[in-house]
Amino acid sequence: MHSVMITGGAGFIGQNLVHAWRVARPTDRLIVVDAMTYAANVRSLEPLIADRSILFVKGDINDAALMRSLFEEYKFTRVAHLAAESHVDRSIADPEAFLQTNVFGTFTLLRTALDAWRSTGTLDRARFLHVSTDEVYGSLGSADPAFSESSPYRPNSPYAASKAASDHMVRAFVATYDMPALITNCSNNYGPYQHPEKLIPLMLVHALDGKSLPVYGDGSNIRDWLHVSDHCDALLTVIERGRTGETYNIGGRKERTNRDVVELICDTLDRTFAAEPALASRFPGCPAAAGASCRSLITYVTDRPGHDHRYAIDASKLARETGQRCSVDFTAGLGRTIRWYLDNEAWWREVTSGAYKAWIDKNYGLRIAV
Ligand code: NAD
Ligand code: DAU
Repeated sequence: MHSVMITGGAGFIGQNLVHAWRVARPTDRLIVVDAMTYAANVRSLEPLIADRSILFVKGDINDAALMRSLFEEYKFTRVAHLAAESHVDRSIADPEAFLQTNVFGTFTLLRTALDAWRSTGTLDRARFLHVSTDEVYGSLGSADPAFSESSPYRPNSPYAASKAASDHMVRAFVATYDMPALITNCSNNYGPYQHPEKLIPLMLVHALDGKSLPVYGDGSNIRDWLHVSDHCDALLTVIERGRTGETYNIGGRKERTNRDVVELICDTLDRTFAAEPALASRFPGCPAAAGASCRSLITYVTDRPGHDHRYAIDASKLARETGQRCSVDFTAGLGRTIRWYLDNEAWWREVTSGAYKAWIDKNYGLRIAV
């Protein structure tokens, strides 16, 4: 049995990881620590908090005194560190919070964990999993081989640079202090509970409300899509069976252009509305409610500055060392994700009120159709 700290456990991947962990390792004690920024939501965790299968602490990873007291109280032997500012466009608009949480917050957590594990003599049994991104490797050309763990770091956005800096700090703690840490770098996740500031849920909820679907540039940028359940399975594997000090890439090998992804969302919605007439009265603004295609909403807008062209992940090291492979087919996974957003309208209506509206006005207000 382990005492586990999951930082950022109220975020998209964090919530999915908490549920996956509860099922996979029912005897572990889970303590979720999250600052509850705009990106957090604990609705899905409420039943687990209520029946005490997890403990939830609202707290900032930059708060060294709080982190120390949590280590003293709960004697963590596992840390899964997911807390971060995670949205590239926000990092372009306002990078400071990204440095604070992703760089300084990670440093505070590393130092607290190291001190605690040294003072209790448990360094050899503990593990610190740092969850990072493929964006640290920069951008690939169309014919380039996929990123491997030895690809050079070439971050292009303030978000990617802050994650790169945090990866380097983890690496330095391993080399200098024998910190029992592991790093994972993964590709674009999708699935339930993703904040509608990110491509797939944004396009979905906009289409349902009949709002324009803002594709950056010409839509030819490529992302490697990984279902969040595959990601969580891989994280559970790496934290127990990965070698400390090592980095593991995690990817879906599902490369798609943004244009293809948005068109697939539109076509799936069109078919679903045709098969389920009751959807028309729930979402009267959606073109599919009147038998038209959601594709009519696609609008090409001013590109993201420094927009990485392509990400692709070579996850063969993970498969070779642990046997872990991603299994969710993209079309099937996207179909299930669309079904989840159709069935959980109350969740995304809550998330898209207030602060979300202000962000949409700020980010998309100045983007013009191209
Ligand atoms: P998210 O933005 O949905 O969630 C991040 C969570 O961290 C939120 O609940 C937020 O409240 C919390 N948080 C932010 N600052 C904090 C602080 N100072 N102290 C404590 N909690 C804080 O992000 P996500 O998509 O779930 O990503 C989780 C992790 O995975 C991040 O580290 C991200 O860089 C990494 N990652 C994400 C993806 C992806 O496609 N979503 C891909 C690769 C890597
Ligand atoms: O690759 C892993 C990364 O994936 C994670 O580290 C980040 O936390 C996560 O946000 C994601 O970054 P991206 O920038 O790739 O994701 P995003 O959903 O913001 O955008 C995906 C692609 O879609 C990207 O090429 C930009 C484009 N896009 C995005 C939005 C929000 C649009 O064309 N229109 C949009 O409105």
